Formats: sequence, C-alpha cells, structure tokens
Amino acid sequence: MKILGVETSCDETALSLVDFHGDDSISSEVKFKVLGETLLSQAALHAEYGGVFPTLAKREHAKNLTPLFEKTLSDAGMLIPGESTVNSELLTEILYREKELLDLLVPFLATHQKPDIDALAVTVGPGLEPALWVGINFARAVSAAWNIPIIPVNHMEGHLLIALVEEGRRQKVEGSENSNAKDENIFYKLHSPNYPAVTLLVSGGHTELIVSEEPLHYRLLGETRDDAAGECFDKSARILGLPYPGGPEISKLAKKAREANAKSPVVLPRPMIHEKNFEFSFSGLKTSVKNSWAPEMDIAAFAREIEDAIVDVLISKTKRAIEETGAQSIIVSGGVSANTELKRRMELLTEGQGVQLYFPPRDLSTDNARMIALAGYLQRFSSPIKIEAQGQLPLGSSQTT
Ligand code: KG4
Ligand code: ZN
Repeated sequence: MKILGVETSCDETALSLVDFHGDDSISSEVKFKVLGETLLSQAALHAEYGGVFPTLAKREHAKNLTPLFEKTLSDAGMLIPGESTVNSELLTEILYREKELLDLLVPFLATHQKPDIDALAVTVGPGLEPALWVGINFARAVSAAWNIPIIPVNHMEGHLLIALVEEGRRQKVEGSENSNAKDENIFYKLHSPNYPAVTLLVSGGHTELIVSEEPLHYRLLGETRDDAAGECFDKSARILGLPYPGGPEISKLAKKAREANAKSPVVLPRPMIHEKNFEFSFSGLKTSVKNSWAPEMDIAAFAREIEDAIVDVLISKTKRAIEETGAQSIIVSGGVSANTELKRRMELLTEGQGVQLYFPPRDLSTDNARMIALAGYLQRFSSPIKIEAQGQLPLGSSQTT
C-alpha cells in the first residue's frame, strides 16, 4: 500500500511516499520502504524571530509544496507527464484561501497523470492552524483531482510511532534494481513494544507523558502547564544569544562543558520535580535563566546547567510514570529526543530494569513526513479523526474504544 505523507504543522514542509507491507492486523509485522522523500526546513527563515512565525510558515508551505511534490514523485519514478482532466472550478473552490498554492498546484495536477498512490496521510493537528491548513488543502486538492482518499493524522502519534522503527537493521532486498530513490532497496521494520508502554513526547510545542495499554491506544498521564521542554531550550538559547533552534546549540555547549569538567556556579530550579504528578512547568526555569545569566559567565557551563535542569525533570517524571504504570517499555520521541544527554540518562534509568527503551532514528526525531505516512497506515486500525486543522488536537482524543 503506497501512502503519501504530508507534513506542514510547523516550520518543516515535508512529503514522503512510502510503500507498506504486512497489512491485516496491527500485530502483524509492518515493513516499509521509502520510495521518495523531500523535506524543506524553514528554521533559518524563522531564526530572526526566535521562534516560528505562523504567517511566514503558511506562505513558505504554499510556495514549496508543489515543487516538493514533483520532486518526490520523480525520485519515486512515479512522475507521469500528460494531461489530466481536472475540475478547475472545484480545485479553485478548495484552494480559495491558498492563492499561491492554487497557482502552482492546479497547473501541475492538470499536466500530470494520477500516480499509483493509495492514500494521502495528512497532519491535521496539533500545530499552527494556518500552517496545518495549507497541508490539508493541498491534500484535499490532490484528492479531488486524482480521486485518492485522505487519512487525517495526529502529528504526535506520528512522532510516537516513528520511534518504533528499527534502525541499523535495514534489510536489503535481494536482486533489487537500481532506481532514483536513495532508499529504494531498503526495508524498514517496526518494533512491537511490550505493554504497558509509557511515551515521553518532547518537542518544541509539547511535553507529554502518555500510557498505552495496547497498540494505538493512548491515555494522557500529564503534560506541561506552560512552556514545552523544546521551547525552554529555544527561549534559553535566545537569552544566551544563540541561534534558533536552541536545543542543539545548548546541547553542543553542554557537551563541551562536560568534557572540560566545567560546572556552573549558578544552580537553576528543577520545576515540579518533587510533585507527585506527571505535570511539567518550564516557563519559570526560562525566567531563572534570564535572571541569572550574565555575559561574563562561562556560557558552556551555564548551558550544561540548563540542559541538566530540563533533563533531570524529564527523567524524574518518566521514572514516576514507570513505577506507577508498571511500564514494560519507554518510548521517547519528538525533537528533544535528539538530545544525547536525555538519551544517556534514559539508558541509565532503564538499564537492568527489564524495561525496553525506544528512541527514533536521530534524523527522524524532528518533524518529518515519513512518520505521518506511517501513522496514516496504522490508523486504519483505529477510529477516524476529522479532516480539519485542529491546533490543539490531543493524542487519542478520537481513539477511545
Ligand atoms: O518535533 P520538533 O521538530 O517540532 C515540534 O513539533 O515542535 O521539535 C523541535 C524542538 C525544538 O524546540 C528544538 O530546539 C528541539 O526540538 N531540539 C532539541 C535538540 N534537537 C532539537 N532539543 C534539545 N537537544 C537537541 N539535540
Ligand atoms: Zn513535531
């Protein structure tokens, strides 16, 4: 089954055309290969705002989706030039709020034939609504022109599921032919974790602990009351004069300080670490960073203290979640899961405890469309969600039994 994943919830425009095998139940082994994939990050454009600027994100998605679509199809060997009879009136109606997308996409659809794609999986939330709508309207237009069904996907479910992809044990397919697509002959496999599984989702917009008693079922244990962990990295980095996104910058400096055994004389708070719940709060930590930072301080040592404060809290709450739920597996995902110190501490936490630990392949920890295609594929086993931008869409909201 070939699915095109479409991701525009934040500042990455991403498409991934994935071929899935192993269909009939969630427990059967899922294998997939990537036929074509494109991703354009707007991070550099948003850097001067110190965060993501929604109208700029929307405009960039609208400008980039059609060329990326063309490249994705072409890499997959599935770009078929030739006239298609498209209903321009209907497409104009679907894209009336997306003038720039309309101008690029409609001529493209009219001059290419329907490729062999079974479904379009599109992120409908959570995320920035103007940005989400571009991806949704893109999918609706492609769906209308070429008669391909749409699967609406929860972005966070994508992050969670992509952490289960087996890394390093890619299987070469015997005798496969050469093709344009770089991963054409590589199959990826999906792990089946032991349940209950606790997931820590940590990104620029989210910090959540979730428990799953079975596949594709999610119950929120707790989340942040204010800033997300990634946001705390980003805002702290900005205070220190470092570029956006701040997580990798702080992490690099912290690593240097650890190697030099440099410690910050300032000790930052670990908000809510002792509270017996699964809630987080990072905005006070950011304020402390602001109040304690002075340019004459050792920036690397201070970055290390920021990273330690955030990671200490994430580890402590995850430990509590393991104890309270009897978790057999821990899944860590979202942009902040790329943090090496978090990974090291999670390994220490789970070592010798009989708890499985899953992190996504590093290049798939931040936003991408492969995870959206994957969630779309597996979503066939849970109840449908609405095809409209839902900025605050909670995980599992529509998936109760
Ligand atoms: O999942 P993601 O790409 O986008 C959202 O859905 O938010 O996450 C982006 C976040 C940013 O806040 C970024 O600073 C953080 O992930 N991040 C990191 C690292 N790499 C990315 N934070 C800490 N350490 C890293 N190595
Ligand atoms: Zn994300």
